[in-house]
Amino acid sequence: MNPDHGPTPDSLRGQLEALRTTATDRLAAAADAGAIEALRASLLGRSGELTALLRGLGAVDAAERPSIGQLANTVRDELETAIRARLEALRDGELEARLAAEAIDMTGPGRAVRIGHLHPTMSVERDLREIFHAFGFEVFEGPEIETEAMNFEALNMPPDHPARDLWDTLYVAEPASVEAGEARPAQDGTILRTHTSPVQIRAMRALQPPIRVITPGRCFRYEAVDASHNFEFFQVEGLAVDHTTSLADLKGMLEEFARAFYGEGTRTRFRPGYYPFTEPSAAFDISCLVCGGSGCAACGRSGWMTILGAGMVHPAVLRAGGIDPDEFQGYAFGMGLDRITLLRYGIPDLRLLMGADLRFLDQFAAGR
Ligand code: PHE
Repeated sequence: MNPDHGPTPDSLRGQLEALRTTATDRLAAAADAGAIEALRASLLGRSGELTALLRGLGAVDAAERPSIGQLANTVRDELETAIRARLEALRDGELEARLAAEAIDMTGPGRAVRIGHLHPTMSVERDLREIFHAFGFEVFEGPEIETEAMNFEALNMPPDHPARDLWDTLYVAEPASVEAGEARPAQDGTILRTHTSPVQIRAMRALQPPIRVITPGRCFRYEAVDASHNFEFFQVEGLAVDHTTSLADLKGMLEEFARAFYGEGTRTRFRPGYYPFTEPSAAFDISCLVCGGSGCAACGRSGWMTILGAGMVHPAVLRAGGIDPDEFQGYAFGMGLDRITLLRYGIPDLRLLMGADLRFLDQFAAGR
């Protein structure tokens, strides 16, 4: 052992203590995580200052080594703890700064939520549901894609019957045999329903008399679109079936409906009509909503407006619905919801209803 060449125990202790005290200031001066990590390496790293000091340990007296080693360990632990604490404090500071930057002012005014509203056609439909509900009618819905059998055959229109021409039909799937040029067999085409009347059949098959249903829904026809025609529209159908349901019941019902919907003073009339699925059939008119009955452009100077078709359910239709026409009779009516909506709000063009133009639709935001 040569005391001239190695450090003395006291000088080693002194250097360790010096490292201990200066490290605190150097750490405080490290401004970011990168500087702190660099400091950690230069103090405690493999070629760091503490390691360099310990290299001198081998040269000191063996009896002194344990206490100096202990001091070195204490200094290392202290430095590591201090470095960790400094890093954490830095991270907390960053978090605080970020929270401050992202702070929300809870006292500011709220942002308005845009709430939608009913489409005018749907608010009319709701009113109809309400009125008919009061008369004991329940809502019964059917599919928009139907078979020809349900849309026509079951409604007393056999394949190739000319009455089918009253409904310009959109086919989803043509019967295969038609493509092959053969006569059209019954019951195999798929179409977009041209009216809600097939739901009469579905209701009769599902329910037992007495039946009172309305069947609101979307219908489709192969139409050239203009101000009063669309390929897509809504109907509300009504059906009542019971032992003694009569034409008088139909008349009374529709007159009450017209007064409930259009007001007490509304005058009504029935005209003969034709539908293959009702017999007798009628058109139902109300006094003109524009002129009150004196005659104007809106009613073609007649003073009347037709709002629906109706009649007594044809025995063949009852049978198709699984109901014995010798035991039961029924009435049915069907109205175009879109037309009723146009009349109610004085809307000049049917296309506006399907146009999804909010400048138009938002006029109905206040409700009905
Ligand atoms: N389904 C008929 C139409 O679309 C309306 C109607 C329904 C007529 C029920 C009579 C009875 O025009």
